[in-house]
Amino acid sequence: MEKQVKIAVLGLGVVASGLVENLNAAKEKIKQQTNLTFSIAKVLVRSRENKEEQAKKHQLTLTTDVNEILDDPTIDIVVELIGGTDAAKKWIIKALKQKKHVVTANKDLIAQFGNELTSIAKQSNVSLFYEASVAGGIPILHTLNNSFIADEITGIKGILNGTTNFMLTQMAELGLSYDKALQTAQAAGFAEANPTNDVDGWDAAYKLMILVRLAFAKDLALKDIKIVGIQSITQKDNDYAQKLGYQIKLLAQVKKIEEHLYAEVAPVLLSNTHPLAVVKNEMNGILIESKAMGTSMFYGPGAGASPTAQSVLADILAIAQNMTNKQPVPQMSVSNLPNCEIHEEVVSDYYFLLSDCTVDLANFLEKQEVKTLSLSQTDLIEAAFVAKQLTIKQKDWLIEQLQQVSHIKQILSVVEE
Ligand SMILES: NC(=O)c1ccc[n+]([C@@H]2O[C@H](COP(=O)([O-])OP(=O)(O)OC[C@H]3O[C@@H](n4cnc5c(N)ncnc54)[C@H](OP(=O)(O)O)[C@@H]3O)[C@@H](O)[C@H]2O)c1
Repeated sequence: MEKQVKIAVLGLGVVASGLVENLNAAKEKIKQQTNLTFSIAKVLVRSRENKEEQAKKHQLTLTTDVNEILDDPTIDIVVELIGGTDAAKKWIIKALKQKKHVVTANKDLIAQFGNELTSIAKQSNVSLFYEASVAGGIPILHTLNNSFIADEITGIKGILNGTTNFMLTQMAELGLSYDKALQTAQAAGFAEANPTNDVDGWDAAYKLMILVRLAFAKDLALKDIKIVGIQSITQKDNDYAQKLGYQIKLLAQVKKIEEHLYAEVAPVLLSNTHPLAVVKNEMNGILIESKAMGTSMFYGPGAGASPTAQSVLADILAIAQNMTNKQPVPQMSVSNLPNCEIHEEVVSDYYFLLSDCTVDLANFLEKQEVKTLSLSQTDLIEAAFVAKQLTIKQKDWLIEQLQQVSHIKQILSVVEE
């Protein structure tokens, strides 16, 4: 028997418009395969201005009063696509308490308040799904929540921010400066007028927090993650990286070391043979390391109206199927585990770029018993090298030694295949 599912959408921006288009395009197929018919009952807009034409084209009923949605008992699923954490949080809580299922793409909100919102959803016996909040169109959260349930995840590495990946690709491939790459990203619609959230690493950190919650059942705070942005990356770093066989990427990573997690978002040197080295421009890529599977890679568009809307639509469908099959309400959920601790003994290779170098670096490093993977010193003034397998303490000690004979311009960790 055919079942009608009524949804309401908060916001009519980029992703919401993509959702309206994708849902219309897929309506018949969804009906044939699931016997479900979806209707968008209402759409919340801040102002009707500029939205009337779109509403007419898709026969949408607009409202500027959110309570017309939240207090409407006929609406089954509320889709939050306004972004931000204030109104979005307040309205999602009200929707959940009114026993409406909620779908959102809001990474800032889910990273910071996901646990609180999930427990309200559980109390109300409704679902809160947020697949689109991490890596746009890549179905990574459902995969973590379902396919890895019987496996033990030991690490995650991800290129999770399309803006910075686009900029770093442009810098590496076209020799653009940081400023020029940012302008190009803004002109192409990949960077906002205020790019801080992306270039400072916060956006990737929020996404990493969500991945960690599902993969390790741990609730990280931003302070638990070492976060470094990409502003310090120069053309010189790119030149040396290429010479030494690497690419510079903003990598979000978490490693499980015994019972502790080490989490960071930082620009790193990724070897050209690393699987994530193929992730260029605005694309995203995620590597999951687990005991039973080994390494699995997920690749796809990390943003954009249609890919992101498709993840939102998949969440809506999953909820609707559970509703009609009267299945127990699933959550993207976690259990409580101890706080994350930064592990002191994380071992990594490190790239150093030095200027005003007063010594023959190869000799100097040999005397300090530092093993190097590659070293480039064309004259005594400037040099770059990769030091092998240093703990954080050993790296700090090496920095002190190098400061006596040179000026350190850059230090990045190096990720081999
Ligand atoms: N764009 C992507 O590729 C992408 C990818 C993954 C996740 N996301 C997430 O998806 C969400 C939506 O992103 P978006 O790119 O679609 O943003 P957007 O284009 O800025 O759309 C947001 C819409 O919400 C409206 N809005 C904001 N506050 C409102 C309020 N209080 N009342 C009514 N309407 C309000 C805005 O209206 P005004 O224009 O009038 O302010 C705007 O039309 C965000 O959480 C974002 O992080 C986006």
